[in-house]
Amino acid sequence: MIEDLWYKNTVLYALNVETFMDANGDGIGDFEGLMRRLDYLHALGVDAIWLSPFQCTPNKDDGYDISDFFNVDSRYGSGGDFVEFMHQANKRGIAVIIDLVVNHTSDAHRWFQTGRSQKETKYYNYFVWSKRRPKGWNKGMVFPGVQKATWTLDKVAQEYYYHRFYDFQPDLNMDNPDVRTEVRRIMGFWLQLGVAGFRVDAVPFVIESALPNQKAKMHFEYLAEFRKFLQWRSGDAILLGEANVLPPDHLKFFGEKEEGLHMMFNFYVNQHLFYALASGDAAALEKALVKTQNLPRTAQWAHFLRNHDELDLGRLTDAQRAVVFERFGKDKNMQLYDRGIRRRLAPMLGTKAQIELAYSLLFALPGTPVLRYGDEIGMGDDLNLPERNAVRTPMQWSNDAQAGFSLHKHTVQPVISKGPFSYDEVNVEKQRRDENSLFNWTARMIRIRKECPEIGWGEWKALRTGSPNVLALRYDWRGRSMLTLHNFSDKPQEVRLRPGVKGADTLVNLLANEECHAAGQVHRIPLEGYGYRWLRIGTHSQILETPKD
Ligand code: NOJ
Ligand code: CA
Repeated sequence: MIEDLWYKNTVLYALNVETFMDANGDGIGDFEGLMRRLDYLHALGVDAIWLSPFQCTPNKDDGYDISDFFNVDSRYGSGGDFVEFMHQANKRGIAVIIDLVVNHTSDAHRWFQTGRSQKETKYYNYFVWSKRRPKGWNKGMVFPGVQKATWTLDKVAQEYYYHRFYDFQPDLNMDNPDVRTEVRRIMGFWLQLGVAGFRVDAVPFVIESALPNQKAKMHFEYLAEFRKFLQWRSGDAILLGEANVLPPDHLKFFGEKEEGLHMMFNFYVNQHLFYALASGDAAALEKALVKTQNLPRTAQWAHFLRNHDELDLGRLTDAQRAVVFERFGKDKNMQLYDRGIRRRLAPMLGTKAQIELAYSLLFALPGTPVLRYGDEIGMGDDLNLPERNAVRTPMQWSNDAQAGFSLHKHTVQPVISKGPFSYDEVNVEKQRRDENSLFNWTARMIRIRKECPEIGWGEWKALRTGSPNVLALRYDWRGRSMLTLHNFSDKPQEVRLRPGVKGADTLVNLLANEECHAAGQVHRIPLEGYGYRWLRIGTHSQILETPKD
């Protein structure tokens, strides 16, 4: 069967144009700069880029407050630069996914400006209003501690408007068919410019109707409507949803008949993964994986370690969250919104051994891996910056002034210039020269990951190892099988396992190119502290079939 599901075996790289590379020297990253770095991304092995919002914005929420959906913010370049960038990316075989931020607009958007001041226009009903202050006006905030309400009085309209996020982000009224038509227009516009799909922001809130004094209702049919439109316009484009939901609710978002999202970030596994890293215990992670197993055929998880937001730990038990805080975010200043940690991966984990373990695991999780810019060189955070900006500092290219990111003295976010993660210690140029650097290790892992389509496409099963600290996953796809092992403990472990595949007396170590043979059915494999293995089951010379994607 021909399968065009390209996203099942791809490596996605997340970046913000604003902080990636500044070509015109005004201190702000731009499309021209990003274009000059495409060969870098290609060398790393990236197949697809996810761009965070770059449309016109007052930029009070890192671009997630859009004031014009159809134009590039002039600080990043022009529409012409965007099209040139698309051409250059596609020429290198790199697909581009962009954010679809349609839960809300910026309050500076023309729709809101018109709707609030001219209630007789159709734009009034683009938003969600209440003449009186609704009962739950101070409930359901996404940014507790910073955000004070979800219903705020608009001085111009003299009515309350609904906003799940900050008060400058009024929610769109998705129950209004005109608004859904606008969403399709936005999708159609960017698809026409060649994007391969959308990372859909805040999906559960996009599809909820939040009427004053009523229980919110979810409309999964809106997702189906968007997917149908997307697929008509571009057969292989995808929707990658941001939906931090508890299993088994994820199935409703994918749609049991594959009518919903193609992909979703697996927040549930992400949180348990950090618990495993913090506690050394693999059991809760294995359970989380099992709970999110068995997806419809076209559905796929996107796995990640860190993203541009806080590490949200809201789905863990209080006891589990306390363990993660204790190990990775002890100081109050490292924590955010009473539920998360605002740090980058490398400073949290500390040692190269644990960083490698975490990344090896990311590539081994059943689904598609998503890397975040800067994590491939182990960039740090700046806890002096407010809220989530701590993890949004400019990319560190070299030890030139401003990390080689810009020629301007003042950059859009300060570069990290002090301490062990400063740009003269941690930068791309230095790591590309060093065979043993995290950059070169990551590039090698990406190459190997691409040679293991079983992980993205196959069925998987957790195997018993005899150690509570080791996660063992076996993947089977089209008659071939492989196995990965990850030891979350800093102590060495001996794993004893039965691969459970006929004739599996040979395991080929894909990272070291050596084989081991089992005398009987049980393999004994020693693992160092934080050790990991990628093993192909069977003989070395198996003829491997490539997925037709
Ligand atoms: C989720 C995004 O990841 C986050 O950065 C943003 O603040 C909210 N959605 C609001 O758009
Ligand atoms: Ca610039």
